[in-house]
Amino acid sequence: MAIRVVRTVSALRRAVNRWRAAGERVALVPTMGALHGGHIALVRAARRRARRVIVSIFVNPAQFAPSEDLASYPRSFEADLAALADMAVDLVWAPAVAQMYPPGFATRIVPEGAATVGLEDKFRPHFFSGVATVVAKLLVQCAPDFAMFGEKDYQQLKVVTRLAQDLGLPVKIVAVATVREQDGLALSSRNSYLSASQRAAAPTLYRVLKDCAGRIARGELPARVLDEGLEARHADTLEPIGSVKDGPIRLLVAARIGKTRLIDNIAV
Ligand code: PAJ
Repeated sequence: MAIRVVRTVSALRRAVNRWRAAGERVALVPTMGALHGGHIALVRAARRRARRVIVSIFVNPAQFAPSEDLASYPRSFEADLAALADMAVDLVWAPAVAQMYPPGFATRIVPEGAATVGLEDKFRPHFFSGVATVVAKLLVQCAPDFAMFGEKDYQQLKVVTRLAQDLGLPVKIVAVATVREQDGLALSSRNSYLSASQRAAAPTLYRVLKDCAGRIARGELPARVLDEGLEARHADTLEPIGSVKDGPIRLLVAARIGKTRLIDNIAV
């Protein structure tokens, strides 16, 4: 059966209200499309938690700077729908930009805390307010019991978890482990930008993360890994951390390969 694609808030509300009236739990998987195995893992996790699964596909202009890749961001809507139909997803929420941001739209959410610790926010100052605004809207629109987010975008996961708490949204944010290629490279829609030689170099990120996590676990000071271009942060607050004694550590890395910016992270 063809998968159900909904493009207006009113049609979305009708579907969700019907499910909720029947006592069915709803899980939301927010995405920007160009779906890969990482997204699919989120859908599977959603399936395990709820009878009804919504996947949103919306390339959110508010989280791209003018200099970034909004226009060229990979789009594969028909293939995405086919993959989601195979997984028996109940509904795809695919609003147009004008549905999400109608003329006169004037309200933005500006997160603090984990959104201002000098990681992705340092390189992409506009990014987390764009993410927070759209995720808050998606959570209000879809009213899910669960919303799935990947650890791949670790700072985003922390920002969104805090946002749901701070706005008192009745949703549980669920973290899903990073899905990787055989050689360790984290799956990402932006991997499609890599040339063959760039693709061959990209797994270095994960190798360095793993190597440094091992060194810290064996007693080396977290600060030493900064020399490798990594960040050692408190796994919850994302504040800099000096010692394993000060809390659980997350190692994070961002690197540009050619014009493509890749990010990754692991637990120590
Ligand atoms: P997008 O990059 O499409 O990612 C959608 C979700 O998939 C995010 O929660 C992301 O962390 C997760 N994801 C991506 N690659 C993954 C991987 N290799 N393993 C596990 N999960 C992975 O992140 C966004 O979209 C947007 O910022 C969004 C939250 C949709 C707001 O616009």
